[in-house]
Amino acid sequence: MSGNFGCLTNLKVFLRILFGQKQKYIMNMKTRAAVVYELNQGFIIEELNLEAPREKELLVKVMVAGICHSDWNFVTGDSPYNMPVVLGHEGSGIVLDTGPKVTRYKKGDRVVFNSAPNCGSCFDCTHDHPSICGTYNEPTWNGVMFDGTTRFANSKGEKVYQLSSVGCFAEHIVLPEDCAVPLKETTPFDVGAILGCAVTTGVGAVLNTAKVRENSNVLVFGIGGVGANVLLGLKMRKVNKVIAVDKNRNKEDVARKLGATDFFEFNEDNFPKIIELSNELKIDYVFEAAGDTESQELSIVCLRPGGTALFIGIPPVSSQTKFNAAAVTRQEKTIKGSYYGTKNTVNDLIQYEEMYENKKLDLDSLISNVYTLDEINDAYSNLLKGKHLRGVIVF
Ligand SMILES: NC(=O)c1ccc[n+]([C@@H]2O[C@H](COP(=O)([O-])OP(=O)(O)OC[C@H]3O[C@@H](n4cnc5c(N)ncnc54)[C@H](O)[C@@H]3O)[C@@H](O)[C@H]2O)c1
Ligand SMILES: [Zn+2]
Ligand SMILES: [Zn+2]
Repeated sequence: MSGNFGCLTNLKVFLRILFGQKQKYIMNMKTRAAVVYELNQGFIIEELNLEAPREKELLVKVMVAGICHSDWNFVTGDSPYNMPVVLGHEGSGIVLDTGPKVTRYKKGDRVVFNSAPNCGSCFDCTHDHPSICGTYNEPTWNGVMFDGTTRFANSKGEKVYQLSSVGCFAEHIVLPEDCAVPLKETTPFDVGAILGCAVTTGVGAVLNTAKVRENSNVLVFGIGGVGANVLLGLKMRKVNKVIAVDKNRNKEDVARKLGATDFFEFNEDNFPKIIELSNELKIDYVFEAAGDTESQELSIVCLRPGGTALFIGIPPVSSQTKFNAAAVTRQEKTIKGSYYGTKNTVNDLIQYEEMYENKKLDLDSLISNVYTLDEINDAYSNLLKGKHLRGVIVF
C-alpha cells in the first residue's frame, strides 16, 4: 500500500482502470512534469513526487493539455506567481483515484480541468457573475490545493506549486474535485481540453459577456486560440461584417475560413486603414484577444459611438492602457472585461459540448499543432510567433 510508483506501475494502474479490475489505493507516485523555476528560463522537464489525493481531491492521468498564452504570462512574470511551479490550466484527463469524501467522481471518469471554479453560493455566483467567484481565489492564486498544501515536490524535497490548483503540464496531477468538470464519453480529449479555456473564453465572450446581436459589425484583434473561438461564436450569432487583425499575416486564411470578411496585419502602417474601415462599417463590438495595450487603445478608437469593446486578452499586470475619456463619455462607448466567458463554467462546458456534437461549433478545426511534453519549449516558441490556432500537448 505504499512506496513510489515507477512508469511500469503507472501503466499497470492505468490499465486496471481501463479494464475495470480491482485496484489498490494509490499512496505516492512519481510523474514527469514541465517545471518553471525562474522567470524567462522556460520549462524544465523533470520527475516529481506526487502525493496521493486527500479529501475532495482527484488523482488524474492527464490526456491532453492546451498551450494557452496565459501560461506564458507566468513564465515572463507579466502575471506574477509562486515558483517553482507546474503551469498548465487548460486540459483533460481520466480519474485514476479519488481521495476521501469525493462525491462527484469515480475511477475511470473523464474530466476537463476548470481553473476558474465557481462555488455557486457567494455574492458573485448568486448575482449572475460566477466567472469572478472569489471563494477559491486564495488557493488557486497561490498554486496550492484547497487545504493550502502542495502535492508536488521535486527530487530535493522542495514543494512545487500548481497553477490555479491544476498545473496540467504533467503526466499525472492531483487536483480538487471542484476544479474538474465531467467530459462526455463521445467528446475527444483534445476537444475536451480546449473547452476548458479557449472555447469557454472566446465563445462565452460573444454569447454571454457581449450578448452580440444578429447583423452586427465586429472587429477582432488576435486570432489565436481565444480569438478563433470568438470567430466561432460570432458565426453562431449570424453577424454581418467581421474584420480580423493579427500580428502574423499568415493568419488571414484561417481567419477568413472562420468567418472574417476582412483581414489586416497589425502594424502601424495599417492603423489608418483599420480605423477607416471600422468607421465606415460602424463597428458595434470590438473583441481584443491579443493581450496588447496598443490593440486595446485601437479597439476604443475603432468602436462606433454606443458600441462595446470587450477586453479578453491579458496584458502585463503592471501595464496601463490609455484612452480618450472625453470621447468615451460623449460617445457612450462601453469597455467591458470578459473573464472565462462570464458565466458558469460547469454549465457552459456542457452546452458547448452539445454545440460541438450538433456541429454548431467546429472545434476539431481549431487544433493546429500537436506536441509531446518534452517539446513544450518549442510549443511556446511557436505560440509567440503567432503560429498556433490552438497547440496541444498529447500525453
Ligand atoms: N480573459 C480570459 O479569461 C482569458 C482566457 C485565456 C486567455 N486569455 C488571454 O487572451 C490572450 C490570447 O490568448 P491565446 O491563448 O489565444 O493567445 P495566442 O498566442 O494563441 O494568440 C494571440 C494571437 O494574437 C496575435 N497578436 C499579438 N499581438 C497582437 C496585436 N497587438 N494585435 C493583433 N494580434 C496580435 C498573435 O499573432 C496571435 O495570433 C492572451 O492575452 C491570454 O492571456 C484570457
Ligand atoms: Zn462563488
Ligand atoms: Zn487559458
